[in-house]
Amino acid sequence: MPKKLYIKTYGCQMNVYDSARMADVLAPLGFEPVDAPAGADMVILNTCHIREKAAEKVYSELGRIRALQRDKAASGGRMVVAVAGCVAQAEGAEIMRRAGNVDIVLGPQTYHRLPEMVALASRAVPGGVLEADFPAEAKFDRLPEQTAAQPASAYLTVQEGCDKFCTFCVVPYTRGAEFSRPAADILAEARRLIDLGAVEITLLGQNVNAYHGAGPQGGTWSLARLIRALADLPGLAQLRYTTSHPLEMDDDLIAAHGDVPVLMPFLHLPVQSGSNRILAAMNRRHTADHYRRIVDALRAARTDIALSSDFIVGFPGETAGDFRDTLALVRDVGFAQAYSFKFSPRPGTPAAAMSETAIPEVLKAERLAELQGLLWQQQLAFNKASEGRDMAVLLERAGRRDGQLSGRSPYMQSVHVAAPAAMLGKIAAVRIERGRGVSLTGRLAEPSEAGIENAA
Ligand code: SAH
Ligand code: SF4
Ligand code: F3S
Repeated sequence: MPKKLYIKTYGCQMNVYDSARMADVLAPLGFEPVDAPAGADMVILNTCHIREKAAEKVYSELGRIRALQRDKAASGGRMVVAVAGCVAQAEGAEIMRRAGNVDIVLGPQTYHRLPEMVALASRAVPGGVLEADFPAEAKFDRLPEQTAAQPASAYLTVQEGCDKFCTFCVVPYTRGAEFSRPAADILAEARRLIDLGAVEITLLGQNVNAYHGAGPQGGTWSLARLIRALADLPGLAQLRYTTSHPLEMDDDLIAAHGDVPVLMPFLHLPVQSGSNRILAAMNRRHTADHYRRIVDALRAARTDIALSSDFIVGFPGETAGDFRDTLALVRDVGFAQAYSFKFSPRPGTPAAAMSETAIPEVLKAERLAELQGLLWQQQLAFNKASEGRDMAVLLERAGRRDGQLSGRSPYMQSVHVAAPAAMLGKIAAVRIERGRGVSLTGRLAEPSEAGIENAA
């Protein structure tokens, strides 16, 4: 009898990648993934600590799981509960004290040890099992190779951790110091993902463009070098990377956007604020104009590149003028999409100690609404401008309606299109008919009118 494994993933794409790898680690022990926690033999919550709300979600989910654990016990079984990810790293044993029904707490660097932890937890060690240190050995060397079928769009973590220490951010504490995987390992993993069905790969890292991994023949490879090597792999139609820091957008990487055809014309480049004073207080180590110059250079290299960003409003000390600088930057750049958040003080970060200059919640909410209004207009305008164009769309999943598939445009827009199920996982030429706020709709372009190659 296979054992049922339910993994719930919060937070960033790196957690999505890690969840898949945890499933790979547990597969040889007889665990098979299921879509719901009821009746599962093991539940893993892969958590995010980035904002207070994200962290609190874990405790409410653990509350709901307690009832399912009782049901499982009543039917003579046992549901082992593990908390993984960044909350596990940040709070450690505190989670077991606070929740009471957690058997395993494991930090992001210890996933390869899951089998031992599961064995220990199954013997019901009092107090649970805790693995939240940063061991010297790289977990990547210990993780098994992927063997399960891959989605058409697959993730590949190339870099972990962060040395930037932005004053608001927990990532340097939860993910540890920057580490880049050797290029040869990444190339091998990419070949494997392609063999297992991927046509698009997104390279992941908390600071992905700070990548500096050992080259296959010695020396160090930059992200641009790695991208150029990956672009040569047969069967890889689309390549993306996320998340980048403006300081690491070097000339070679910018040039790659112009001369590597499989590199998609989209970049998520968080800026956080348009005020130089706030950027300095955030320890971002770049100015608003530095960011504008990077955008100009990217657009010179690839005229149609679409940009996305992250913003924080209400950072301690943010004045009305600082906020206006952020709006001005948004107007100057023009984003295809963006994420924006109210500043959330995180325990242990320098910005959490800046409470004398904290911005009242109501003011944060007001600024967030204004910023999001502007970003929404830009996104809508970008989507509207797509009407009438033919785009290569990677059809990733079944659509909401029967006979419909959904996917992503080269510019990361969601696209819904009437298409036969057999086209799932393929890249199709789609004539965009309608651009709305959150997505595009279109139809399969006739072969005669398709100005783009059907790459898959
Ligand atoms: N490595 C990326 C982003 C990591 S976290 C970078 O360098 O930008 C994703 C986003 O969450 C950040 O870009 C930031 O906008 C937001 N964020 C991080 N800490 C936050 C906090 N304390 N309060 C509000 N938003 C935060
Ligand atoms: Fe956090 Fe800054 Fe590192 Fe991004 S660069 S992960 S925001 S510390
Ligand atoms: Fe969250 Fe950790 Fe990612 S805090 S955003 S899951 S690196």
